[in-house]
Amino acid sequence: MRILIVGCGYLGTAAGALLVRSGHEVVGLRRTMDEHEELLAAGIQPAWGDVTDPGSLDRLSGSFEAVVNTVSSSRGGAEVYREVYPEGTRTLLAWLRQHPVHRYVYTSSTSVYGQTDGSTVDEESSAEPGTETGAVLRATEELLLDAARGGFPSVILRVAGIYGPGRGHLFRQFLEGEARLSGDGHRCMNMIHRDDAASAIVAALERGAGGRIYNCTDDESVTQREFLEWLSQKLTRPMPPMASEEAPTRKKRGITHKRVSNLRLRTELGWRPDYPTFREGYAIDVARAMQLKSGLGDPVSSGRD
Ligand SMILES: NC(=O)c1ccc[n+]([C@@H]2O[C@H](COP(=O)([O-])OP(=O)(O)OC[C@H]3O[C@@H](n4cnc5c(N)ncnc54)[C@H](OP(=O)(O)O)[C@@H]3O)[C@@H](O)[C@H]2O)c1
Repeated sequence: MRILIVGCGYLGTAAGALLVRSGHEVVGLRRTMDEHEELLAAGIQPAWGDVTDPGSLDRLSGSFEAVVNTVSSSRGGAEVYREVYPEGTRTLLAWLRQHPVHRYVYTSSTSVYGQTDGSTVDEESSAEPGTETGAVLRATEELLLDAARGGFPSVILRVAGIYGPGRGHLFRQFLEGEARLSGDGHRCMNMIHRDDAASAIVAALERGAGGRIYNCTDDESVTQREFLEWLSQKLTRPMPPMASEEAPTRKKRGITHKRVSNLRLRTELGWRPDYPTFREGYAIDVARAMQLKSGLGDPVSSGRD
């Protein structure tokens, strides 16, 4: 297939690299040229453009059999969210009416689940986000579900918090001594290693059903306390101090407490994570941090960067 990845950043590049290795031709679209070399190294053809500008899409040469939309707001607020997610999606849908594809994959977020009671949520659970940005993502899903009812082949992946080489906010905060246990740390976090999210995109492209939603998270939701205790024990450092919980509105992902299930992704698409939990996913980073701490010289290379 010839595949267009719109918003070819951290996750898009990893997915593109997998697709190239499977023999597909991949074009990666983004606004800046900063990571041009990284795309080329992954075998992805870089293209420059803005998903909110129809002219950018018209300038792309050749046709595509599939589109993956991994555009992100690049840390922007609700206004930027509205531009890149629903507006960007409308622009893409209009363009794709003239350039039909067999499959369209959109990476939404598990932040659309606003549950705070620690319950297990699957794709049939209510998705009523408690944040403005979550509501924008949910509205974007609705655009695509609507299009799917008219026959458009859109598949939605609700992706958990992504970590991996160079990413992992709480882990980094812990290493820098800036992590804080919020409240009593009982709230659950749902995570996914970048490479497993990338393989989920490939599974959704190859086997996803149009109009279907799949949660994309690893096998174990973990409380913040359990995660920090694990780091503290592995890295032989004290537990971070407690801090009062942030007001939900100040956190983009909101303060939710839920355990997201990946059963549908596993059973319907046959997806299996290489990093079933944070323990496997962070093993290399932990070993590297220990090596640095003991002054043994060169850090361990993850081999996955
Ligand atoms: N990161 C997470 O923890 C997480 C969690 C749940 C869901 N997700 C979803 O997963 C997807 C991938 O996330 P990520 O972490 O890989 O994001 P990322 O690294 O920020 O990559 C997003 C890419 O989109 C490009 N982009 C931004 N605005 C654009 C525009 N208007 N037109 C064209 N390209 C644009 C950016 O490059 P330029 O700035 O050069 O354009 C960047 O390369 C996103 O849809 C995100 O919502 C992420």
